[in-house]
Amino acid sequence: MLHLAVLGIGILAVIILSMDDIPPDLRHALRYAISSVAIVFFVEYVLRVWVAPEAARYRESSPAMARLHWAVSLPGLIGLLATVPVFMWLAGYRIVGSDAASIFCVLWILKLGLHAPALSTLARVISNERAPIASVLILFLILLVIAATGAHLLEREHQPAAFGSLPNALWWAVVTLTTTGYGDVVPLTAGGRMVGSVLMISGITVLAIMTGVLATGFAQEERRREYLRVWEQVARVPIFTSLGVVTLSEIVGKLRTRYYPSRITIVRRGDPGDSMFFISSGEVEVRLPTGGTILLGEGAFFGEMALLERQPRSAMVATTRPTTLLVLYASDFYEIASHIPALAEVVENEAKRRRNENIDRTSGAPKR
Ligand code: CMP
Repeated sequence: MLHLAVLGIGILAVIILSMDDIPPDLRHALRYAISSVAIVFFVEYVLRVWVAPEAARYRESSPAMARLHWAVSLPGLIGLLATVPVFMWLAGYRIVGSDAASIFCVLWILKLGLHAPALSTLARVISNERAPIASVLILFLILLVIAATGAHLLEREHQPAAFGSLPNALWWAVVTLTTTGYGDVVPLTAGGRMVGSVLMISGITVLAIMTGVLATGFAQEERRREYLRVWEQVARVPIFTSLGVVTLSEIVGKLRTRYYPSRITIVRRGDPGDSMFFISSGEVEVRLPTGGTILLGEGAFFGEMALLERQPRSAMVATTRPTTLLVLYASDFYEIASHIPALAEVVENEAKRRRNENIDRTSGAPKR
């Protein structure tokens, strides 16, 4: 948060300082802010280089190698770029507003990328989908060159400035194919307009294909990551550990991980039951309608009664501390129950025991 706040102050100060008509006092304060932020980033860089050997991934390397590895990593290089303004001042540059030193501070924005949570996923998606992405880009290029050539042939006599050369016609083709349409150059002949129309429709199609490729890539990558996350969590739930790898992998594909902070209601009494939950870490509290509470810890499950009895939820369930749950949706539960009778039996027996316990509690009978 502190890093983001310092970054925000620095970038904002650089942007405001580039305006000409600001009062001298403000200009002075902004320069002061930029200098302070630059010094913070310089100190941060030095400290990060210093503590690099502490990072788990460099544990095998010597301290010097660990520091070198961090220095040439992406965060290291971005950190180094962020220190450049300090070196520029040392070399005699002053911050005056639109000079090189203060414009260079805008590079601090790269540090924001280090806070982007899904940037590595995006990189993986682009790498996984490089073949379809390359195909779409090639298609884009083919359309671009054909349309520019067509427009050049059809329009060059009427508009020599705009379509007289292929590079000029290409500018029009790019603006049209990307559906930007500045309107600075428009075809005037019937043929040129036909080429433009086809190009605009092709542009929408190409963009739609690209969107589809990336969206599918993201969904697949997220499914893969979720699968790995679930594998890590299932080991903590005893009901799963006795199953063979093949059976387990079938269940893992259907489970979803959910992280909840403390004191969050997961299940409300009377709600329809569309899923059941396995606790892989943390603890939940079952608040029974009779007034009693029951604590369920790591490895336990809940939410099965509504699924088995096809009834509304029988109790309220809330977390007592930060908790990780594995969610199994009703349709997947029924499918798994039909494939793996042993698992279904354990869940059914526990549901039966809980139902009896609740009846005993309601009637005031001693606990079984
Ligand atoms: P469900 O009825 O779907 O939603 C509330 C859940 O609380 C219920 O499923 C059980 O999983 C759980 N629950 C209800 N009664 C008990 C009990 N006596 N002991 C442990 N868990 C219970």
